[in-house]
Amino acid sequence: MASSEKNVIARIQETLQFIKTKTQFKPKIGVILGSGLGAFVQEIQTELILPFEQIPHFMPTTVEGHKGNLIFGKVGEKDIVALQGRNHYYEGHSMDMVVFPTRVMALLGIEVLVLTNSAGGLGDGMQAGDFMVIEDHINLMGANPLMGPNIKEFGPRFPDMTEAYDHKLVAKMETQLKKQNIRYHKGVYGGLSGPTYETPAEVRHLKMIGCSAVGMSTVPESIAANHLGLRVAALSCITNLAAGISKNKLSHVEVTDTAKRVEKDFSEFLKNFVQDI
Ligand code: HPA
Repeated sequence: MASSEKNVIARIQETLQFIKTKTQFKPKIGVILGSGLGAFVQEIQTELILPFEQIPHFMPTTVEGHKGNLIFGKVGEKDIVALQGRNHYYEGHSMDMVVFPTRVMALLGIEVLVLTNSAGGLGDGMQAGDFMVIEDHINLMGANPLMGPNIKEFGPRFPDMTEAYDHKLVAKMETQLKKQNIRYHKGVYGGLSGPTYETPAEVRHLKMIGCSAVGMSTVPESIAANHLGLRVAALSCITNLAAGISKNKLSHVEVTDTAKRVEKDFSEFLKNFVQDI
């Protein structure tokens, strides 16, 4: 075993051992909450909240709107673990660190990972405040969390990504969004490294290659989760129209303001969706 692999596994073991001294909870579903979408935690009957700072090998979040807690609890009958806030590649973390919490959640026993994010909309008819069910992604980050020696305890060298987003979960998401009468789209998420927003030319390019939304997260976690054999579902909150489509210049304030505006619908959706998994 190469030393870098040993490091990842050893670090995860240390994290798991720490968590086991705090709780015996066995979550079956993991949820990662994106920018400004943390309000869902109010729907969790909380068993334990661990701030990232207290967890060995977790990195504090540096982004406004990302709190940084690992939360164990129940949503209805479902035992879940939620990451309130995430680490991004643009923060300067290695891809290994970006997907570290995903791997920890997998080894805690989750079978399904629900990813959420804020994204810029490229699709026809999109408005700020709409949702988008992610049915596929294009990795444009220029990196992949599985680069380097394969850790065969996690999964195969060349993981299949044909159904990176589980079709049954996509259908369940759509059913729930319709039930709640929420405006939504279904499409392909383009994952870029950021932290700059795109230029209008980049947005035209993304549209041409088949993206309906663009963002700076989700793709690494989805890849790591697929490697680990988890079923993945993902939802974008279209917080703004992408650069050049929007009449305004883009800002993180617009992103978090829109996320705040839809947070009630979003939390209600996630509560119902998680119970339906
Ligand atoms: N581009 C990239 N990431 C984003 C955007 C965007 O327009 N909106 C929210 N996250």
